[in-house]
Amino acid sequence: MRFLGMHTDGKFAVANFSGAMDNGEIVHPRASMQNETYLRRSLKAVWHPCTQMKAHEQLPLIPIQRGEGVWLYDFDGRRYLDAVSSWWVNLFGHNHPRIKAALKDQLDKLEHVILAGFTHEPVIELSERLSAKTNHQLGHCFYASDGASAVEIALKMSFHYWRNVGRSSKRQFMSLANSYHGETLGALSVTDVALFKDAYGPLLRTSATAPTPDFRLAESGESPADFARRCAAVLESHLAEHHAETAAFIIEPMIQCAAGMAMYDAEYLRLARAICDRYGVHLIADEIAVGFGRTGPFFACEHGPITPDFLCLSKGLSGGYLPLSVVLTRDGIYEAFYHDDVTRGFLHSHSYTGNTLACRAALATLDIFEQDDVIAANRQRIETIAALAEPIAVHPKIKHFRNRGMIWAFDVVTSDPQFARKFFLAGLAREMLLRPIANTVYFMPPYIIDDEESALLTGQTLEILNEIA
Ligand SMILES: Cc1ncc(COP(=O)(O)O)c(C=O)c1O
Repeated sequence: MRFLGMHTDGKFAVANFSGAMDNGEIVHPRASMQNETYLRRSLKAVWHPCTQMKAHEQLPLIPIQRGEGVWLYDFDGRRYLDAVSSWWVNLFGHNHPRIKAALKDQLDKLEHVILAGFTHEPVIELSERLSAKTNHQLGHCFYASDGASAVEIALKMSFHYWRNVGRSSKRQFMSLANSYHGETLGALSVTDVALFKDAYGPLLRTSATAPTPDFRLAESGESPADFARRCAAVLESHLAEHHAETAAFIIEPMIQCAAGMAMYDAEYLRLARAICDRYGVHLIADEIAVGFGRTGPFFACEHGPITPDFLCLSKGLSGGYLPLSVVLTRDGIYEAFYHDDVTRGFLHSHSYTGNTLACRAALATLDIFEQDDVIAANRQRIETIAALAEPIAVHPKIKHFRNRGMIWAFDVVTSDPQFARKFFLAGLAREMLLRPIANTVYFMPPYIIDDEESALLTGQTLEILNEIA
């Protein structure tokens, strides 16, 4: 996610190459002739995502020619440190030799095959390995291409499961306040971000919202765990009354990323699991943003530890190489669909379901986790970045400095509605790709960021804070 507050109206001069402050105004580096050609063509032909396109009259696009490690290069050779892993997908940065080699090898064998009635080696191996990562608690994998599609699948499967077992009154969903689960109609129904949702309100299902355990909202003196317990009590009283019509409760475990890296205590996971069990409601863990080591362990649910009934994965799944998402489910759920009656089956499909190349990229990603012991290596990286970020953590203009795993965030104290946009532009001028969410600045760097690059990231961020906050 997304621009939240970045593309609001504002005055931006496309001025000198330095990108420095110019008479108090943030300016953007002048695009070279090559860059200019691409951005003109792009604006003429491409409708860019999550963007008020008119904002590009003042805010230039950055045409990227190539990537290498944590760096993205434009057509003029300027570089940008991809501190957001390109919308949180490029776990190991760009142009990774091992993922690239695996894809080249797969290209010579099979690029794609229909997954209905056919199967292939990468999808089988990937399903087996993902299931093993859940200690075989979640035994079956259903594939799609994007995060929102995975959420749609989990919601439909949950409803259909209850229908198959004779409980078709269970057709409501519940999510957390400030949740983000994607932007197709079903996923948007369980998303709670007004900016994305309001315009489509008439098209959406209503769903219940439980208080977010975001620990920034705790009372002073209240611990994150106590706050989690207070929020869970509200969840419980809602489900006590509405469990008969509630199919599933969907959460982003440990961190609501799109809400501005809202972190919460693992106690909430444990309580949500217990409450869902008590009232016969499915728990859907949307780990699309937080899976694959982002919060420290491989899955965020391990913080509980808990096992959800459905686990949605995407983004880092293919290392940022190809669109791929998956929903893992318990065997008991799978079995409720297994029947002579066709209509009891899960008759959902996408043309690219289980695309062979995408699955192979995902296998290469899992190989890197194993060969490089990424989870352990990240522990060292986290310590290094935490030490480097110390001057930011104590900066007088920020509050709620927070870190979990490979995510850092802090809220800048500002009343400037243009803050996010100014920070973004000041970042570009300093070779940093940082996309604040409203006044929350965050780092979600690729796991291959080295000490020097980490020092650049934290050092430049501090400079930007001093410059514009
Ligand atoms: C938690 C979560 N769920 C779902 C999605 C939607 O994924 P996609 O953008 O691939 O549809 C996102 C995307 O940011 C997300 O962060």
